[in-house]
Amino acid sequence: MIAALALTAALVVAPTASSADCTAESGAFTWGFKESFRAYISGSIANGGWTTDGDLGYETPAFFSEALAGSLALDPIEGELGVEGSLRFTGHDGILDTTISNLRFVVESPERLTVVVDLRGTTQDFVPVDSVDVPFLSGDLAAAQWSETGDALLLEGIPLTLTAEGAEAFGTYPAGEAFDPLDLEVSTSAECAARAIEAHESDGSLPLAVGATVLATALGGALTAVLVARARRRSASAEGPSSGV
Ligand code: HEM
Repeated sequence: MIAALALTAALVVAPTASSADCTAESGAFTWGFKESFRAYISGSIANGGWTTDGDLGYETPAFFSEALAGSLALDPIEGELGVEGSLRFTGHDGILDTTISNLRFVVESPERLTVVVDLRGTTQDFVPVDSVDVPFLSGDLAAAQWSETGDALLLEGIPLTLTAEGAEAFGTYPAGEAFDPLDLEVSTSAECAARAIEAHESDGSLPLAVGATVLATALGGALTAVLVARARRRSASAEGPSSGV
């Protein structure tokens, strides 16, 4: 009985067990960084501009790369894709000089993504900053549009807000400040993209939660059966002597 119940529980948990089959290793992104910052930098106040290097590029009005690489499980979604290269903003005749490099999109769950970067420059008050692995922005994957194109999973319009660590490193905007939304394209098969979308729509953790409930019910049932059997044995042996055995 326990074996049968455990098998039932395993079958219900099974959809998450095959997640290793769907791991993406490349992708692309398009992202404006922050429109008001670009306007400030390129306008008459800062009189500046920006450059990119490595595998990053810029085409008005957004930064982009088609060379994201890493390991991102898709069923459910979790892992990271990053890109070699940097974005450098300059202005005020070089007084403002901020470089953002080693951009990584870390997916924590079907609901949450973190943009992790290395950041070098100064704050608005000219305090030097040189920080690595800054969890710069927090992304709301639940609010993004999920779709697939046949060979890619698209996560479009991911809202991004500045984290406390990001606010400290960038040194101007407060935590919670909205940056431009991010469009991510993850190279994968239509089947894996569909599975990622399905896991997202069922809240990612649902198959596991259902499995855990069934397992708990099964174990509870098995425990009850054992206790009833023991009680029966006990009452049988309690009756034993009086029945003269
Ligand atoms: C000569 C030095 C600087 C001057 C005179 C200056 C001046 C200004 C002014 C007047 C604004 C307001 C712009 C507006 O409301 O449209 C502004 C905004 C801003 N400044 Fe500077 N600034 C200087 C240096 C810096 C530095 C070193 C940073 C470091 C990153 C910085 C980052 C910013 C940011 C992020 C904004 C907000 C842009 C937005 O509207 O999104 N500034 N600055």
